[in-house]
Amino acid sequence: MCANMYEIVKAEKLTPDVTRLEIAAPHIAKKAMAGQFVMLTVDEHGERIPLTMADFSAEKGTITIVALEIGKTTKKLGTLKAGDSLFSLVGPLGMPTELKNYGTVVCVGGGIGLALMYPVVRSLKKAGNRMISIIGAKNKDLLIYEDEIEKVSDELYVCTDDGSKGHHGFVSDVLKRLVDEKRKIDEVYAVGPIIMMKVIANLTRPYNIHTVVSLNPIMVDGTGMCGSCRVIVDGKTKIGCVDGPEFDGHKVDFENLTARNRRYLAEEEISLRSFMGAK
Ligand code: FES
Repeated sequence: MCANMYEIVKAEKLTPDVTRLEIAAPHIAKKAMAGQFVMLTVDEHGERIPLTMADFSAEKGTITIVALEIGKTTKKLGTLKAGDSLFSLVGPLGMPTELKNYGTVVCVGGGIGLALMYPVVRSLKKAGNRMISIIGAKNKDLLIYEDEIEKVSDELYVCTDDGSKGHHGFVSDVLKRLVDEKRKIDEVYAVGPIIMMKVIANLTRPYNIHTVVSLNPIMVDGTGMCGSCRVIVDGKTKIGCVDGPEFDGHKVDFENLTARNRRYLAEEEISLRSFMGAK
């Protein structure tokens, strides 16, 4: 590995709005575990943003991040090419996924959450679990990491909102079917839009199936200093970036998380408009 620190080794588009970057970061790759994230700054004037790691290789000294180009910073990320470098990269941050042999684990993921789901499924499989993966997206062209997840799963179910591939409907429909069929499910892991994780947690609660969700609160420092990523779990305040990002889905206050994640929408819109106007 001869790339400079934080140099982009490979840049590619997974969909028109989703960028995958493999970045030289040997010190992070050496310690990274499934479920963790990094904080990065694209350039010296940029904001810090958290991104989950979709992959990491201590051997190559690289980590892989996947970003949905939705705001100014992620759109800037989408313009980077191999050979460019990030201004800063900090990690691995957050608590890793608890890797135990639960028995049968159902992993449910949607949208950009599938990038984080891949190393989680791979690691839980390695820990001896039977892995059932349920993945979803708006349409077949927006499905990411399908092949990778299929390779590390014992069963894979694909869902699309428009029916262009697999089940026409939501990932929760498939999980409900498995529960109704009385399939053996010892643990559920969900990552994706807040509403999806909330629906999954509500579905498994009456059956007492322990359900872990990976939350995405707004982060500033990512190291427990600012309090921006506060979430309420079991009626208590938790710090998403150091206590999480994974929590017991049956205890998360999803309404509070939804409201807190909307608090900078106006500012984000202004920033994005000025960036797009400036291009
Ligand atoms: S992002 Fe600042 S405390 Fe978590």
